[in-house]
Amino acid sequence: MGQAPVVYGQSDRPPRGDYSRANADYTCAQDYAAYTEADHQTYQRLYERQSALLPGLASQHFIDALPSLGAKERIPRFEEVNERLYKATGWEIVGVPGLIPEVPFFSLLAQRKFPVTDWIRKPEEFEYIVEPDIFHDLFGHVPLLFNPVIADFIQAYGKGGLKAAELGACEMLSRVYWYTIEFGLIRESGGVRAYGAGILSSAGELDYSVNSPEPHRLPLQLARAMRTLYKIDTYQQSYFVIDDMQQLLDFTSTDFAPLYKQLRQLPTIGAKELLPGEQLI
Ligand SMILES: [Fe+2]
Repeated sequence: MGQAPVVYGQSDRPPRGDYSRANADYTCAQDYAAYTEADHQTYQRLYERQSALLPGLASQHFIDALPSLGAKERIPRFEEVNERLYKATGWEIVGVPGLIPEVPFFSLLAQRKFPVTDWIRKPEEFEYIVEPDIFHDLFGHVPLLFNPVIADFIQAYGKGGLKAAELGACEMLSRVYWYTIEFGLIRESGGVRAYGAGILSSAGELDYSVNSPEPHRLPLQLARAMRTLYKIDTYQQSYFVIDDMQQLLDFTSTDFAPLYKQLRQLPTIGAKELLPGEQLI
């Protein structure tokens, strides 16, 4: 038992989370007894603030599914969430100490297991935290796992990730995850709404992504997203918009291998670059 901590990008402090608790697949039991009263309060305050911001900005798919998470006045127990989630779509959530490496991540998704960080940010990090905590993972990601189409898409993504790892194409594929599951927008109610977890768990980016004139909003094209670099330390400069959830699942019926091969010949696209002829939404 025990794994090496995982760091993505550059940081001047060690990663959060106790990786000595992690099993070989990087999962760990949710340490429910370790939560303090302040932790539960932080969750409740984040939940209240964020759920009040959703109308008119978040996808109705997300708003409808949110109550399935259960408790909002305290941190939910994973096994309580799993009782409902497994019945709904055959998914379950599993605890992890923090970010985990790509291959174990893909392999959990391929088994319909979604890794959820089990610790919560400190009160002084209420507005912003660098790495995902339980609020991002649970509030941001888990409601849409109750949606059968998204549930199938994320599993297909996991399986695709395992293939991409063999082909050395994880970077290209992970940009698809970034621009859909983390920062995706969807056409709804005559405008766009957010369905990406990175947006849904952020107070500021929710309004910015939907209403600000600053970022680009483009129709999602698989090859375009795979080539597009992204920012991890600011709001996104480009968002990709889907017509409906089924569009995501439809992507996964094609073999990505020829696409990776073709895209390797092409340059990457900057986070706020537009290609000639591209029309913004
Ligand atoms: Fe996330």
